[in-house]
Amino acid sequence: MKKRFLLILSTALIFSIMSGCSGNMKQKQGEETMNMKRTLFGEANSRQIYQYTFTNAGGMSVSIINYGGIVTHLMVPDREGNPGDVVLGYDSLSVYLENNSPYFGAITGRYANRIARGKFILDDVEYQLATNNGLNHLHGGIKGLDKVVWEVKDFIFPDSAGVILTYLSKDGEEGYPGNLNITVTYTLTNKNELKIDYEAVTDKPTVLNLTHHSYFNLAGHSSGTVYNHQLLINADKYIPVDETLIPTGELLPVEGTPMDFRVFNAIGDRIGDVDGGYDHTFVLNGYDGKMRFAAHAKEPVSGRSMKVFTDQPGMQFYSGNFLDGTNIGKGNTAYQKHFGFCLETQHFPDSPNQPAFPSTVLRPGEKYQTSTIYWFGVE
Ligand code: BGC
Repeated sequence: MKKRFLLILSTALIFSIMSGCSGNMKQKQGEETMNMKRTLFGEANSRQIYQYTFTNAGGMSVSIINYGGIVTHLMVPDREGNPGDVVLGYDSLSVYLENNSPYFGAITGRYANRIARGKFILDDVEYQLATNNGLNHLHGGIKGLDKVVWEVKDFIFPDSAGVILTYLSKDGEEGYPGNLNITVTYTLTNKNELKIDYEAVTDKPTVLNLTHHSYFNLAGHSSGTVYNHQLLINADKYIPVDETLIPTGELLPVEGTPMDFRVFNAIGDRIGDVDGGYDHTFVLNGYDGKMRFAAHAKEPVSGRSMKVFTDQPGMQFYSGNFLDGTNIGKGNTAYQKHFGFCLETQHFPDSPNQPAFPSTVLRPGEKYQTSTIYWFGVE
């Protein structure tokens, strides 16, 4: 019985992948409907870039492009059922290509976050990565995974739909050792989840840390600062950093600091007490490699709410500190400081140089596998 179900499931997957998806497609089962639409979004490196939009039975939709694996739109109904776009981004591919995107909605890596001076030693060999953030390496370097064209296949089932993105990052790309085959699957479900599954294999020992970099504003991407959002983070500790945002190596208690989000606090309440705003990794409680609750954000006016679940040890809470109005986004919105916040599930920054942090080494024969779920609703 189980075998037969799996056969039907894989046949449906093969069918939906082979059929491509020009125009619209629907999958129906009872009342549940998933919808998929694909349109041409432009060209990058002489390759066509498509925008895939998936809409679920509850009216939530996500748009994803195969440049940078970028989530360009995320429509979530508010308390009254009115959809609002809750992620920052641009209207057209040309603006993403102009290279001034602060990683809006992208997959970041091969090492998301910072590696001090872009250097690390692995198996007695010193590697020098591209440096693109002062002296440090940030989010994979000059041309990270956010700026490459991914191979893409779509899939649609009665309860879920999405894209499977693949990319071969060659040995030596941005200084990293090993040919790294990466697969990122975005899935929208009828339970209002946006699930991101990451997988990778390498042919040489390497280091790896992948994440997703959406800037959220649950009141709508153009609605101003995120100060009134209530945020809860399942972390008793955070990682202090030096002036170049490299960890000092300590894990400090959040208790008695503006980092204490163990109960709901408005993002704006204590942001002024943190130099520049929040840009810190939180040490998520109970790391055992399995999925667990990481964070909960809610915006009181729209009623929209988001929960994050992950199997990763940490989560970067970044409050859009470096936005300064020069990024002109969707609908001509000048994104100002603190107009969006990121909850980037990941390993700790600079882990390759911090022996006490959980390892980010991937060896040939091993499989890197991690998942994060962003759930949306109203309350
Ligand atoms: C980092 C910030 C960085 C930003 C770039 C975030 O993930 O934590 O320090 O400036 O990405 O947009």
